[in-house]
Parts: sequence; C-alpha cells; structure tokens
Amino acid sequence: ETGLVTLDDGYANTGSCSSAITFIDGEQGILRYRGVPIEDLAARSSFIETAELLIFGELPDAAERDEFRALLTDSAALHRDMRKHFDGFPVDAHPMAVLSAMINAIQAYDLPEIHITDEAGFRRAAAGLLSKTRTIAAATYKSHVGQPIAYPRPDLAYAENFLHMMFSVPYRDFEPTPEMAHALNMFLVLHADHEQNCSTSTVRMVASGGANLFTSVSAGVTALWGPLHGGANMAVLDMLEGIHDEGIPAQRYISMAKDRSSGVRLMGFGHRVYRNFDPRARVLKEAAYNLLESMHVTDPLLDIAREVEELALADDYFRERRLYPNVDFYSGIILRALGIPKDMFTVLFAIGRTPGWIAHWKEVHDNPAQRIQRPRQLYVGNPLTQWLPRDER
Ligand code: SDX
Repeated sequence: ETGLVTLDDGYANTGSCSSAITFIDGEQGILRYRGVPIEDLAARSSFIETAELLIFGELPDAAERDEFRALLTDSAALHRDMRKHFDGFPVDAHPMAVLSAMINAIQAYDLPEIHITDEAGFRRAAAGLLSKTRTIAAATYKSHVGQPIAYPRPDLAYAENFLHMMFSVPYRDFEPTPEMAHALNMFLVLHADHEQNCSTSTVRMVASGGANLFTSVSAGVTALWGPLHGGANMAVLDMLEGIHDEGIPAQRYISMAKDRSSGVRLMGFGHRVYRNFDPRARVLKEAAYNLLESMHVTDPLLDIAREVEELALADDYFRERRLYPNVDFYSGIILRALGIPKDMFTVLFAIGRTPGWIAHWKEVHDNPAQRIQRPRQLYVGNPLTQWLPRDER
C-alpha cells in the first residue's frame, strides 16, 4: 500500500536497482569489482587497471593499458580559461567545493571529452575525467600553497603522478618512495567503487534523468562530502587528534561514543552494509603500519587508533550493534603520512571513487530499460486543508 515497487520493475521507484559492477556480502565481509576480489586488486593491480576493470568490465591487456594511459596524459590539462575559475576561489576554499564546481565547469568548454557519441568518445571522456580530477585536486593544493601547477609526467603511473603534481616544485621533482606510491595506489584501488552507496546512488539518480557524465559525477562529489559518508576520513583524524591533543583516555572516548546524548560518534566505525569487518579496513590497517615503518616514522595517532579499535571490538555496545572499523578508520593515517593535508582527504576519496562513478553512469546510460529514478514517499502531512484569507487566519 506504500506504492513501493519491486526490483523486477527495472529501475524501481524505490531507487533499488540491479548492477553488474560491484558485489558486496555485508555478512561475510566480501567485496569484488567485476567479480575480482578486492584483496587481489589492492595487492597487485594499478589504480588505472582497476579503473579500466570497473569502467570497461575487464582487466586491460598491455596494449589497452598503454592506450588508456596515453589518453590520461593527453587529457590532463584543463582549458586555459578554466584558470579564471581557480583564481575566483579564495585560496582557502574547501577543496571539495572546488572539485565539485570545477568538474561541472569542464563541460562549459568545448573539450573533446564532452560530446560522447561512441565507445571511443566514452573512452576519451572516462580518461579525461579521471585525469582532470587529479589535475584539479593538485592545482587546488598548489593554489592554496602559492606554488605553480606541476603537470603530469608520462613516465609515471597515476598515483605517483599525483604525488609529483602535489609536491614537485620548478627547481626539484618530488620523488615518492616505492612504498609511498604503493600505499596511495592501494588507497585509490580500495576506494574505486562500493555498489549503491550514497554518492554513487546520487550519480545514478542524476544520470537517470539523462544528465551527462561530468554533471552526474559532480553531483557524486557533492554527495560524498558529508561526515557520515566520505567526509568521515577527515572526521576520524579530527577525532584521533582530539583524543591526542586533549589527552582524553581512549576508554573515556569510547564511553562518550556509546552515549547518544553526547553527540559523539566513533568515526570510522559502523557501516550500512557490513555487519562484519569492512575488508578494506583490514588492508588499509596493514598498509598504514607498513608505510610508517618504511618511512621510519611513528605516528601517535596510529597507536591511538589501534587502542580505540581494540577497546571498541571488545565492547558489547559495538559488538551487539555489529559496528566494526570501516574504510575510513585507517585511511587518514596513510594520507597524513603521505603529507596530504587533512582538508584534502575526502578529495582523495573522490579521486579514488571516480572510476566507480563513471562505470555506474555508463551502466545507467546504456540500459535500454532505464527509467528516470523517482523514489516514492509515505505522505504524513496535513489532510485536505481549506485556504483562508489573511484576515481569517
Ligand atoms: C562510508 O555505503 C557505503 O558503502 C559507504 C562507504 C563507501 O565506500 O561508499 O563505505 C563509505 O561512508 C563509510 C562510513 C563512514 N562513516 C562513518 O564512519 C561515520 C560513523 N558511522 C556512523 O555514523 C554509522 O555507523 C553509519 C552512518 C556508517 C551507518 O549508519 P546506520 O547503519 O544508519 O547506523 P545507525 O545510525 O542506524 O546506528 C545504529 C546503532 C545506533 O545505536 P542505537 O540507536 O541502536 O542505540 O548503532 C549506533 C547508533 O547510535 N552507531 C554508532 C556508530 N554507528 C552506529 N554508535 C557510535 N559510533 C558509531 N560510529
């Protein structure tokens, strides 16, 4: 009687849908991209190979990979007039606001990626969006620190190139260690897609109305920003820094997080789907330890994270509610070790998630049974109400 329709209505009004891109088993803690386990991809696949798997449906052979990488390099630059947009933002504008606005602005310029009429055009558009997202993020940071933009080097893989574009200066190229490049590559692979989460569902919703790839992904960036979603990686660092700087005992923080009236949550814990460990959290926890060890640095926040995790996992409140570390709990430790400023953490999440958003946009765009998504509601407002003239109200 609520008007909810079922899956067999194709893209039902409820917004539920069928998809062939990512599989999650929340009970078992399983995550696969196009059937490939996330653990294999995180250990052995480059971010761009993973992106091609998600977007085109299979891992590329050497020729396909080289062709796509050439497209990425050739489409890294923004239209010269987009510079005016950057200069219009305050240098301390939030990087997510800049990213969302700039991705949407791309389509205002007659760039080769905009007019998708065939598969070759879609490959150009996918490469262009992946490449320009990286350029916009790095240029935002350069604008903030008052340094000139560093353009990508054709000889570097995507993750390494991002670190180069962030931290190289005209008189010295930044050379990330293999461990740093591997940690960022793994971070991006683990964020590349996650089924029908808040931001991906937003992309699908906007795409279902027939909007183009850039507008749809720009909407996804905006939806990702909230602290309950992609913004959680920044919120986890705020939490760990607060515990550290104010000397709050971890157990006390856990007690506050259990008390709804405190307004405090254990950020980086819990998930709408996983009722077990988020498989990405396991991989990121190990990556955080390995990266810091390779850099011969210790981070007190990592020790606090581990203590908080151990206490929470042993606590009935979290166990009864099946609350476990999610993708955001350890990811910030890695980004902090790489020198990424905290207000860019969610931008890095967005860069990682862009292949998934592209794949979902294409799945909606190509579906002949596609209907505009139109969730229904249960009306609980006023019954029929008569209009009264102002002097009778
Ligand atoms: C991402 O959907 C995706 O796939 C998202 C994502 C992706 O890759 O796209 O995986 C990325 O967004 C991960 C989640 C990042 N967010 C956080 O870490 C924020 C902290 N987590 C929570 O706010 C919460 O767990 C959510 C938002 C993740 C899930 O919310 P739910 O499933 O709606 O849980 P709920 O709010 O209904 O809470 C159920 C109970 C409540 O207690 P009771 O009312 O039963 O007493 O669990 C409690 C909540 O108070 N609870 C928490 C908690 N999360 C839930 N209590 C303390 N700390 C928490 N983190």
